[in-house]
Amino acid sequence: MTVTLPSGITEETTNGLLAYRIETPAARGLVYVQGAHVAGWAPGGADDVLWLSEKTFLEPGKPIRGGVPICFPWFGPGRSGDQQPAHGFARVATWRLVDARVDDDVATLELELTGADVEKADDFPQDFLARYRVRMGRELELALAVTAGEQPLDFEEALHSYLSVGDIRQVRVVGLDGAGYLDKLDGERKVQHGDVEFTSETDRVYRCSGTTEVVDQAGGRRVLVTKQHSDDTVVWNPWVDKSRAMPDFGDDEWTGMCCVETANALGDAVSLAPGETHVMVAKLSVG
Ligand code: BG6
Repeated sequence: MTVTLPSGITEETTNGLLAYRIETPAARGLVYVQGAHVAGWAPGGADDVLWLSEKTFLEPGKPIRGGVPICFPWFGPGRSGDQQPAHGFARVATWRLVDARVDDDVATLELELTGADVEKADDFPQDFLARYRVRMGRELELALAVTAGEQPLDFEEALHSYLSVGDIRQVRVVGLDGAGYLDKLDGERKVQHGDVEFTSETDRVYRCSGTTEVVDQAGGRRVLVTKQHSDDTVVWNPWVDKSRAMPDFGDDEWTGMCCVETANALGDAVSLAPGETHVMVAKLSVG
C-alpha cells in the first residue's frame, strides 16, 4: 500500500532507517518506521518536549534511545522475567505506514504491525493487529489499538515517553501521591507520599490511571501526561551508574531526561477475547 504524503510530511532515510518528518505551523517531529518510533516532537516554535540521546543507535534492529519507544507485547523482561528482546519485539519491528494526513496543521500518521510481520517469540505465538495513531500538533496524541486474532491475546504495553528536562534534580512529578508502586530496584511494593522527586536511580511502576504533571523547574515548563485505558504510570531515571553502563546513553545525559510512561503492565496486563480490541491513549501537552 502506497500512502501519498500531504504537504507538511516528508520522507527521509538515515542509516537505512526510514522516517517521516513533520513540519507544520503547529508542530515539528520525526517518526521512524522501525518501532513506529516517535523520535521528536515540539509544538509550534517551542523547544523539543521529547528527549533523544546523542548516543542513540540509529541502526536497523537496534532500539532507539529516547522519544517514545512502544513496548509490546511485554514490558521490560515480561512477567516471566526472562523475555527477549527487552520491552518486546514491536520496538524494533518494521511497522507499515497506512495513512498520513494533515488537517488544520495537525499531522496524523497511522502505522500498523501484525503477527505476520514479525518473527514472534516462541513464548508469544498469538496473532494480533496493532494500529498506532500519532497526532502531532500543539499536543502529541498517541493511540495504540491492539486487536486479538482468532486466539485470546494477553499482553503488556507501554508508550515509553522520554521527556526532556532542564535538570532532573529539580523535577517533580505531580499526580502520584497515594499511589501504590512496585519499586523495580528492590522488588518491593511501596506507597508514594507527596510528589515524586529524584535523588538517585528511580525505576517504578505506579498503579495510576490518572494524569501526571512533570514540573520542570530548571527548564521552566510543565508537561502534562494525560491518558486513557492505562492503569500504570512508569517513572524512570537511570542516574549515574546505570547511564554509564548503557552504550547508547551519554554518561552525563541522565540530568536532562525523565521517563513518564503510559502503561498496562505486570498485574494490569491486558487480556482480549478473540477479535476484541483495546486502545491505550497517551497525550502530552506543555503547560
Ligand atoms: C523502563 C524500565 O521502562 O525502561 C527500566 O522500567 C529500564 O527497568 C528502562 O531500564 C530502559 O529500558 P531499555 O530496555 O530501553 O534499556
